[in-house]
Amino acid sequence: MILVTGGAGFIGANFVLDWLNASDEAIVNVDKLTYAGNLGTLKSLRDDPRHLFVRADICDRVALDALFAEHKPRAVLNFAAESHVDRSIHGPADFVQTNVVGTFTLLEAARSYWSALSDADKVSFRFLQVSTDEVFGSLDAADAPFSETSTFAPNSPYSATKAGSDHLVRAYQHTYRLPTLTTNCSNNYGPYQFPEKLIPLMIANALGGKPLPVYGDGQNVRDWLYVVDHCSAIREVLARGVPGETYNVGGWNEKKNLDVVQTLCDVLDTLRPKAAGSYREQITYVSDRPGHDRRYAIDARKLERELGWKPAETFETGLAKTVRWYLGHQDWVDEVSSGEYRKWVETNYSQRA
Ligand code: NAD
Ligand code: DAU
Repeated sequence: MILVTGGAGFIGANFVLDWLNASDEAIVNVDKLTYAGNLGTLKSLRDDPRHLFVRADICDRVALDALFAEHKPRAVLNFAAESHVDRSIHGPADFVQTNVVGTFTLLEAARSYWSALSDADKVSFRFLQVSTDEVFGSLDAADAPFSETSTFAPNSPYSATKAGSDHLVRAYQHTYRLPTLTTNCSNNYGPYQFPEKLIPLMIANALGGKPLPVYGDGQNVRDWLYVVDHCSAIREVLARGVPGETYNVGGWNEKKNLDVVQTLCDVLDTLRPKAAGSYREQITYVSDRPGHDRRYAIDARKLERELGWKPAETFETGLAKTVRWYLGHQDWVDEVSSGEYRKWVETNYSQRA
């Protein structure tokens, strides 16, 4: 079986659902269930013997050791993280704890378990770190996209802690020969994304008749990848990636934020038209994110060349699927938009001019 951390969050849960759709290999899913983790996302697996959910913190070495000893996974995939840049600006401590200390603790538990395996099992074991393009910092308009050899230059507490965890993973491979793999991916979107992130937040606000808060001038650029494509990339890297290597994952979909929000409004105008006017009329400019990275772009050619991976969705097809999913799953959105979420919206948006 494989051990997945953070499998009740957005990408982790999509990965768990996708994996069990395609394979009978069981998953131990270890998640602390922070505000970002939702078991409702996994309710279709409630009676599925291939899925074992364990509520635990990746900083808890005792719990991790017990899980390794009991389940003897052939691989660990680390999705667990504090993942939202704006929250890292308001409160970086949780990011240092989970992203750095948590990854370190997981690496230590994995190393201890791996050291006692047979030679053959040692060779086939994998530790896969799910990371981000944000570790590379910010690009200017004319710069080439990030490659696997781009320098780390993280700019937010979130990206600094992800960079720190990526460095630890690298060091465990180099020093102890733990067979690690790292993926650095661009912005994901799709079903089950918590409505603090750009696309689900804009869908929720649009439908709720609220302002659509675009930071700064709306000209920041992100590369967008449909989450199911990210899951397929991770599967390929786990199956055939070379230990010690890192792989950039991207959608070849560079978009300015304003263009993303306007396109989203157009899709909603078609699928759920307002009584009068367009959702575009709800777009509002608000003060910028401190230290806001201007542009991310990913060169994903290594993954295509070496492992034959390419995204299946374009931005247009992925966005249409995403909007349809949110329109059909208002119950999921209501479930996760708890008191804690409302408090966060107040914290992040009430003081923005
Ligand atoms: P998310 O915030 O939606 O989910 C994170 C999950 O981790 C939650 O289920 C949460 O409960 C769990 N978690 C948090 N702290 C934990 C701890 N200490 N112990 C155990 N579980 C804990 O995040 P996501 O968007 O699904 O991102 C998953 C991973 O992918 C992260 O490592 C993130 O850095 C990376 N990533 C995300 C994106 C993106 O666009 N969302 C892009 C590239 C990489
Ligand atoms: O690039 C990969 C990263 O993408 C992941 O590592 C992170 O975990 C993930 O959260 C995401 O980070 P971003 O900061 O790019 O995503 P977010 O959805 O928060 O913001 C996307 C862009 O939209 C960014 O330029 C900020 C802007 N934005 C965001 C929000 C929430 C707005 O203009 N208004 C908003 O209300």
